[in-house]
Amino acid sequence: MNFPSILESIGDLNLSQVEYLLNSAKGFKYNPRKHPYYEVNQPVVATCFLEHSTRTRNSFVLAAEKLGAIYLNFDPATSSLKKGENLEETFLTLRSQGVDLCVIRTAVPGELRPFKNNPPFKIINGGDGMHQHPTQALLDLFTMMETGFKPKGNTMAIIGDCEHSRVCHSLIDLMTMVGCKIILCGPSGCLPRQTPHTNVELTSDVTYAINNSDLLYLLRIQKERHKKFGESNYFSDYPWSHGVTMERLKKLEKNVPVYHPGPANIGIEIGACVFKNPTNKHELGYLGYEQVRHSLWMRMAIIMAMLERRI
Ligand code: CP
Repeated sequence: MNFPSILESIGDLNLSQVEYLLNSAKGFKYNPRKHPYYEVNQPVVATCFLEHSTRTRNSFVLAAEKLGAIYLNFDPATSSLKKGENLEETFLTLRSQGVDLCVIRTAVPGELRPFKNNPPFKIINGGDGMHQHPTQALLDLFTMMETGFKPKGNTMAIIGDCEHSRVCHSLIDLMTMVGCKIILCGPSGCLPRQTPHTNVELTSDVTYAINNSDLLYLLRIQKERHKKFGESNYFSDYPWSHGVTMERLKKLEKNVPVYHPGPANIGIEIGACVFKNPTNKHELGYLGYEQVRHSLWMRMAIIMAMLERRI
């Protein structure tokens, strides 16, 4: 079975492809090669970020460079998109220039879907609006497993703006695929109306979510996606109602790892003391920088699987 030409969502992957990526990422982590993988016939990997990014874009650039690919930074702000050229015409032009794979971030949910019919090149979704961020979920699962979390039969709480988070949608699809139970927690405006999966529970009670989980995954409150609330103080109570603070964690009898995909609103969804308590060998604390560190290996694995379509 071939790896998909377009990785738009977690639904494009099956369990054996996910397991293949986890193993491959592990190989990049523990057996780094002295020489790049591509020394001849180097593929051309481009990024096209129509929305801002620090983590995703940079880690794909580093992953492509470490593999030995030729990297092309397509900068939308200085491109002919600004003269009205559309995305399809842009992609066909990039293909004619020799691009083999492009990582794209867009504000429009589902914008990459039409390209599945006739892909101009391999495409990796680097986040599309509120829809999906599949590579974030894959690197999160890799980080969790590398730090000792066993998804099958255990429970993670995803706390924050679940409904408006592309990361959350990808995590639900991926973590339920590997047998993890999920508690989605947030104020009612941040939760879906119905549970998206039989293994997903909804609650607005943060103490319940924390007490009943083995891992906490916090999400940024995305004020830009709550325009209907205007400048109201809808979220001003959030740090007290749902923020994960050291005071809340200290009430637990166990150490639970705290994940966040970043960027974080420190003092809102995550207390400053939690954020400044990175994990160490004796105690699991904030693992945000471990997620960033592991992103490189997972994204190397994804690029290589997409280019080689080995599974
Ligand atoms: N987690 C994530 O997607 O971060 P960036 O927006 O910085 O890429």
